[in-house]
Amino acid sequence: MSQWIPEVTLNDGLTLPAVGLGTYKLNGNEGANAIRNAVRLGYRLIDSAYNYENEGTVGEAIRRSSVPRQDLIVTSKLPGRYQSYDKAVSTIQESLYRANLDYYDLYLIHWPNPKQDTYVEAWEALIDAKKWGLIRSIGVCNFLPEHLKRLEKETGVKPSINQIELHPFFNQENQRKWHEENNIITESWSPLGRANAVLHNEAIQKIAEHHQKNVAQVILRWHYQLGAITIPKSASPKRQLENISIFDFSLDETEMGMISELTRPDGRLKNQDPATYEEF
Ligand SMILES: NC(=O)c1ccc[n+]([C@@H]2O[C@H](COP(=O)([O-])OP(=O)(O)OC[C@H]3O[C@@H](n4cnc5c(N)ncnc54)[C@H](OP(=O)(O)O)[C@@H]3O)[C@@H](O)[C@H]2O)c1
Repeated sequence: MSQWIPEVTLNDGLTLPAVGLGTYKLNGNEGANAIRNAVRLGYRLIDSAYNYENEGTVGEAIRRSSVPRQDLIVTSKLPGRYQSYDKAVSTIQESLYRANLDYYDLYLIHWPNPKQDTYVEAWEALIDAKKWGLIRSIGVCNFLPEHLKRLEKETGVKPSINQIELHPFFNQENQRKWHEENNIITESWSPLGRANAVLHNEAIQKIAEHHQKNVAQVILRWHYQLGAITIPKSASPKRQLENISIFDFSLDETEMGMISELTRPDGRLKNQDPATYEEF
């Protein structure tokens, strides 16, 4: 039997599960089998990107799975090098051809690249692609409040989601608050800190022992209680199952606070501050 995962509703009405599968590094036949297995376990949200070079793998996993396409929420992302309007349109089409899908449920601008200053143009392409039925919901990743404000001011359309780096060492308190006040859902990337030292943190280990869960489950539960959608990546069927088995316990305020307090100003995994960092 597959696991139950609660749903979150976006500002445009699309509903999606509170936990999905990250797919960075899931490629080829092994990747397709890992993704298919996740779907069998109950995952319905799949996160990919043009730059992960695995949109084809995701499409293949969907075809290998017995879950109907309409029950899945499939995401991809527009790379920085294709942010002009025309390139964005053809990249969205190329993403669909690679996955052999008729539409993406969610399509995100991968990085704002503010020095390049083309993200508004790219956003106009996403708005049109949604009108043409190629995408059901449009959002962004790594956008700071100043970038989000500009999108709405210049196009009148607000993103449904902002996917940002978020884990106990970088809890993004201010950015999450801003999202909440502006009706944008936060989605956490690298929710497990890409399996860094956070998985061996003593304070979280104690909380995990108390709940008879493991550290990863406690961290994912913390994301859920913060109101963020998480997309942990795992190639392992065992860990995939663990990562969605987080809806039978809850953390109290003290435990939530103890995890949030682990944040540090330099807690980003690779110092990728969207104000200056650019990715193409
Ligand atoms: N928008 C962006 O700019 C952006 C940037 C980075 C990532 N992302 C997205 O976010 C997704 C998740 O982030 P991520 O892949 O960087 O890191 P992550 O999900 O935080 O961590 C993945 C690592 O944790 C391990 N792991 C997973 N579950 C575990 C568990 N229960 N116990 C112990 N280890 C566990 C995985 O190993 P195994 O596979 O061996 O289990 C893998 O090494 C990505 O896959 C991608 O889809 C987006």
